[in-house]
Amino acid sequence: MTPEELRSFADAALARLQAAEDSTAIDEIEAEVLGDSSPVTQARRSLKDASADTRRELGSVVNEVAARLASKVGERRSEVEMAERDVRLASERLDMTLPGRAPARGAVHLVRQVWDEVVDIFIGLGYTVASGPEIDTDYHNFKALNYPDAHPARLETDTLYIEHGEDPEGVLLRTQTSTVQVRWMEEHEPPVYVVSPGRVYRRETTDATHTPVFHQMEGLAVDESITFADLRGTLQHMADQLFGPGRRLQFVPNFFPFTEPSAEMLVSCFSCDGSGCRVCSQTGWIELLGCGMVDPSVLENVGYDPTRVSGFAFGMGLDRLAMIRYEVPELRYFFSPDLRILEQYR
Ligand code: DAH
Repeated sequence: MTPEELRSFADAALARLQAAEDSTAIDEIEAEVLGDSSPVTQARRSLKDASADTRRELGSVVNEVAARLASKVGERRSEVEMAERDVRLASERLDMTLPGRAPARGAVHLVRQVWDEVVDIFIGLGYTVASGPEIDTDYHNFKALNYPDAHPARLETDTLYIEHGEDPEGVLLRTQTSTVQVRWMEEHEPPVYVVSPGRVYRRETTDATHTPVFHQMEGLAVDESITFADLRGTLQHMADQLFGPGRRLQFVPNFFPFTEPSAEMLVSCFSCDGSGCRVCSQTGWIELLGCGMVDPSVLENVGYDPTRVSGFAFGMGLDRLAMIRYEVPELRYFFSPDLRILEQYR
């Protein structure tokens, strides 16, 4: 090729590079115009056999053309790559203005709300929260609590037993949180001020007010010269906090094996203040809990000296409390997996 031909070849090649739209096209043109079999390379090869004049003249054109082509290839390649990147970025763009998907809002279960509320009242009085196992022994659930061997609650009709060990009735699902009284006193010296909320189990057929699983909160205070007046004052405070100030309390004699004397405590209805309404079944009073003075034999069973310390205890149904507070008609609603029911009681 003559220098003129080489120049016009280069002009055409530059125009094609300018027109190339993607990096594959540029690679192809580059191979064609600067590769081994391109006119530029061939012209460079021919230089060694050429005359000195030709070599000088053609040589400088070859170098000039090769340099222009190489720089144009580089320039177009970076332009095209930038354009390609812009296209990719535009297609991958995230639209941050799209509204997000809100996660479904959960809520604390009503029984748990009441649980927390009662616990808070006692923490305010300086009590400690204690817990115990849901699978426990006959000893902690009955024997240490002074139940005679033939007590009806021990019958299989009331208690769910676990197959474990020699004694078929030695291990059970606790029927009451009173187990924690024994467990706490076994491990701690007086003074004792504890509450213990938790799940309990009984062999019940489910109906409006019974389910085989429910929740209780136990309270226990043991110290020097604790009296029934302390029990009463403590429960008055709890009732005022739960239902508003000015509740009246009524203690009706009752029997529990582990307290003596024992009582059922009623609170004047927070809804009608005692005149009778739907909440209190027209009686003006709401049965809230069982309580009493800790029986000396229970204190002895855990190694306490009943001539030195005395105590009171109470046990309350948390589900029942939640039902009363929020006028939930059926206990089993709490344990139904139907969210339409639970969501009403947020
Ligand atoms: N554990 C009893 C029950 O489940 C409730 C109870 C009554 C607990 C009297 C007490 C108490 O601590 O003193 O029916």
